[in-house]
Amino acid sequence: MPAQGPRVVSDVPALRAAIAEFRRAGERLALVPTMGALHAGHIALVEAGHRVAERIVVTIFINPRQFSANEDLARYPRDLEGDLKKLAAAGTDLVFAPNVETMYPPGFSTQVSVGGVSQGLCGAIRPHFFGGVATVVTKLFLQAGADFAMFGEKDYQQLLVVRRMAADLDIPTKVIAVPTVREPDGVAMSSRNVYLSPAERRVAPRLHQVLQEIASAARQGKSVPLAIDAGIATLKPDGFGPIDYLALCDAESLTPIIRLNGPGRVLGAAWLGATRLIDNVSA
Ligand code: PAF
Repeated sequence: MPAQGPRVVSDVPALRAAIAEFRRAGERLALVPTMGALHAGHIALVEAGHRVAERIVVTIFINPRQFSANEDLARYPRDLEGDLKKLAAAGTDLVFAPNVETMYPPGFSTQVSVGGVSQGLCGAIRPHFFGGVATVVTKLFLQAGADFAMFGEKDYQQLLVVRRMAADLDIPTKVIAVPTVREPDGVAMSSRNVYLSPAERRVAPRLHQVLQEIASAARQGKSVPLAIDAGIATLKPDGFGPIDYLALCDAESLTPIIRLNGPGRVLGAAWLGATRLIDNVSA
């Protein structure tokens, strides 16, 4: 027997009416914001949602404001039918799949800008990115009014930016971090992995390995700059490049550090052919 599919709504009044029904029954709500093309990493967010709330709302919206003009908005993978099947199997009550006009009607002029944790790393390389993410996630949080919102550690800087935004704007949705889901060879699950050629996919695990090597050097008190240089020297011959960054940072502030004096995070972003891979591990 196929699992019953989630109800799909595409405008804010319908979203709020459906959520009001859950609230009348006294149910808690977990929000799972996505851009679709769902994989096991997204399903882990839904499963984590089930552990804290009775109802799961998944949003599917490819947010144009977090892509610059030369990025992959037009070719970003789309598969609403496949997504709904996966969400039915994972147990999802409601899917909010708005179009661009619903989220950004004519005249829309507001941008949510988060300082601190959004500067540096991906924020320095993709200056448009976190403003776009913070704006759309603020809207989704206010539209849904959920108790919890599930975010993957795969996008570690995004997780911290969203947490900061919700705290600063007094949005009472608790942001919950969910560990990265990896392929058996260590590659972090990402909707963009479909862009990799078979040859690129074979070397893709090197990024995760290099991050682990830097984390291990940091934990052993060895030189982190030397470990980063060694990482760059192994990634380049495998075809990685440009390497946007490899860095050891304070796990809370994301300030770059060269030795651990508390929880750290090693983060990396590198191009493999036409695909930009990002990943991170704890240190
Ligand atoms: O991580 C993503 O898929 C997106 O950045 C998000 C959080 C859904 C906002 O568009």
